[in-house]
Amino acid sequence: MLNLLILVVGLLLTRLKPVFMEGDLCSGGHDVSVDIRENSPDGTFIAKIPVNGNTLTAEIYLNVTGPDLEWFRMEGKVIKLNVLPNRPLDRELLTIPFLFAMISCTDVVSTDQIDYRLMVQVLNENDNSPIFLEESVQPLNVSEMTPIGEVLIRLQAHDKDGDGLIYMINKASNDAEFFRIDLPSSGKVLLSQLLDYEVKKQLDLQVYAMEMNTEERYNTTAKITISVLDGDDQYPRFLPCNFLLHRKTRICVNPVYRGNVTEAKLLYHALQLSPGPLLAEDGDKGLQTPVAYSILAGDDNGRFEVNNVTGAIMMRWPVRSFVKTPMFTLTVMASQVDDSTKYTVTTVLIRILAPNRYRPRFKTIENEGFIQEQPNPLALVVTYSNKPLMLEAIDQDFKNGRNPNIGYSLTHQSNHTQLFQVTQEGLLLARADRLHAYEKYILQIVGTDKESGDMVSMRVKVEVLHSSQPVPSGITKENRKFSVKEVGLVGGVAVISLLFLIFAIVLLIHFGREWNRHRRHRDIVAIEQNSNVHLRSLKRFQMDQQISFILQ
Ligand SMILES: *[C@@H]1O[C@H](CO)[C@@H](O)[C@H](O)[C@H]1NC(C)=O
Ligand SMILES: *[C@@H]1O[C@H](CO)[C@@H](O)[C@H](O)[C@H]1NC(C)=O
Ligand SMILES: *[C@@H]1O[C@H](CO)[C@@H](O)[C@H](O)[C@H]1NC(C)=O
Ligand SMILES: *[C@@H]1O[C@H](CO)[C@@H](O)[C@H](O)[C@H]1NC(C)=O
Ligand SMILES: *[C@@H]1O[C@H](CO)[C@@H](O)[C@H](O)[C@H]1NC(C)=O
Ligand SMILES: *[C@@H]1O[C@H](CO)[C@@H](O)[C@H](O)[C@H]1NC(C)=O
Repeated sequence: MLNLLILVVGLLLTRLKPVFMEGDLCSGGHDVSVDIRENSPDGTFIAKIPVNGNTLTAEIYLNVTGPDLEWFRMEGKVIKLNVLPNRPLDRELLTIPFLFAMISCTDVVSTDQIDYRLMVQVLNENDNSPIFLEESVQPLNVSEMTPIGEVLIRLQAHDKDGDGLIYMINKASNDAEFFRIDLPSSGKVLLSQLLDYEVKKQLDLQVYAMEMNTEERYNTTAKITISVLDGDDQYPRFLPCNFLLHRKTRICVNPVYRGNVTEAKLLYHALQLSPGPLLAEDGDKGLQTPVAYSILAGDDNGRFEVNNVTGAIMMRWPVRSFVKTPMFTLTVMASQVDDSTKYTVTTVLIRILAPNRYRPRFKTIENEGFIQEQPNPLALVVTYSNKPLMLEAIDQDFKNGRNPNIGYSLTHQSNHTQLFQVTQEGLLLARADRLHAYEKYILQIVGTDKESGDMVSMRVKVEVLHSSQPVPSGITKENRKFSVKEVGLVGGVAVISLLFLIFAIVLLIHFGREWNRHRRHRDIVAIEQNSNVHLRSLKRFQMDQQISFILQ
C-alpha cells in the first residue's frame, strides 16, 4: 500500500517536472512486444518509444539495430513498418514469424545509451491457396482389369498457411463418374466404375484440394491423365472380322476361309485361302498376345496340317478323286499362347477341283444357224437339216468330254443380244416374233469353265428364213446361187470386186489354217463326223465363190 503510494507520488513528480537531468533523457522507454498482420502496408505503426528526451531538438538519437532492422524505420519516437514494393511482409517467407530489433537511444551530450528490445509477431493471414505436390500429380497407368474400389492414386496438396485441406472430385469433369473419394481428407482416389480399354483408353481425373476451415476456402485443381492399359479380357479373333451390330456393340464374327486344291496335285506351299490367309489376333489390341493354331477336326487322318505359329495350312498327300471327296471341312482353332482357355474356332472349306489339263474347245470355230420367221416369242435356232444348234464345248479333262462347269453366254459384241439367248446347256434361243426374213446376225458365243476360268468362243451366223422357206439340209446349190447372186449385185463395181477378192483370199488362208488346226485336233479327240463334212463343204463353198469372183 505504501509502495503504491510512493509510486503514484513519484509518477506525479515526474509529470510535474518538465526538465530532466542529463543522463535521464533516454529513460522512460521500455521493451516493446507487438503483433502485426502479415501483408501490412508500408508505414504501419508498430510502437512509440516513450523516452524523455526530444528527438526533434537532437538531444537524443533513436537508432534501430538488430537482425531484422530492414523491416523498421524510426520516425521521431515512432517505429514504423518498412516494406518495399518487391518485399511485402509475407509470413510464409520468414523462417520464424517474429521480427526482432533493438532500439538504441543515445544521449548526445553524455553519450549514454539505453537499448530497448523490440519483438514483433507477424500474424498469419490466409493469403495462399493449396498447392498439389508435384510428385503426386503424375500421369498414371491403370489396368482395365482394376476392380471397383481400388485406390488408383493418393493425391497430396499443401497449404503454406497451414490450413487443413479436403479433396473432392470435380463432378463437372468428363470422367468424374469413374472416380470417388471416400475420405475427403485422405486424398485417396478410388475407382468407382469398371474400365474397358476397348471402349476408353484414357481418363481425365480432376480433383480439388480445398481449405477446410478458412473463410476463403481457397481451392486448387489437379488434372491427371490416366491411361487405361489393356488387360487380357478379349479372346483371339480370326481376320478379317465380319462385324455385326448386336445391342450397340460391334461383334467380330470369324470369317469362313475357302480354298481350292486340284485333284492329284500336291502343293508344297500353304494353301491359298480367301478372304485371306488364315490369321488370328488377340482381341486385346494393346496386348497382342501371340496365338497358336491347331486343327480340331476334319484333317482327314493328318492329310492337312497347320503351322501352329504362322497358320499356314499344308496338304501332306494329294486327293485321288475329286468325285469321292469333293470337299474337306477343317475346324481350326486359334488360342492364346499364354492362356489356352482363350481361343476361337473357325471353319476352312477346301474344295477339290477336277484336274485341268486341257482347255475346253468348240467343235467348230464357226457355225451356221437358221430360224424361221414365226409368231412364237421364243424359238430354237437350228442348223442344217433342222437339227437343234448345240453349242457344246468339249473338255478332255472329262471322260465323256462334258464339263458340267462350263456355262455359255452371248458376248456384247454380238448384234442384238436382246433378240437371242443361249441356255446353260448350249442351246440357242431367239425371239422369233421380232425377227424378219432375210436378216442375218452374227453372234459371238463364249463358254466359260467356272472352275478354271478357261474361256472359249465361237461365232454363229444366224439367218432368218421366211416362214415358207425350209431349213437347208446342207450346203446346196441354192445357197451357192444365193451367194453368187448377192455378190453379183455389187460385182459391177470393180473396186469392190477387188476388195472382195482380197477378202476371199484372206478367208481362204484363214480356213486353210483352221483346217490344218482342225486336222491336228482330230487326232486328239473324235469329233462328230458331221463337222468334218461340214467344214469340207464350207471349203468347197469358198472355192466356188472364189472361182465366181475370178470369172467376173
Ligand atoms: C544513429 O543514427 C545517426 C543518424 O542516422 C547516426 O549518425 C549514428 O551514428 C547512429 N548511431 C549508432 C550508434 O548507430
Ligand atoms: C505407362 O505405360 C506406358 C506404355 O504403356 C509407359 O511408356 C509408361 O512408362 C507407363 N507409365 C508409368 C507411370 O508406368
Ligand atoms: C475453387 O476456386 C475457384 C476460384 O479460384 C472458384 O470459382 C470455385 O468455385 C472453387 N471451387 C469450389 C468447389 O469451391
Ligand atoms: C509349335 O509347335 C512346335 C513343334 O510342335 C512346338 O515346339 C512349339 O512350342 C509350338 N509353338 C506354339 C506357340 O505352340
Ligand atoms: C449384224 O452384224 C453383221 C456384221 O457385223 C451384219 O452383216 C448384219 O447385217 C448385222 N445384223 C443386223 C440385223 O443388224
Ligand atoms: C476356288 O475356286 C472357286 C471356283 O472355282 C473360285 O471362285 C475361288 O476364287 C477359288 N478360290 C481361291 C482361293 O482360289
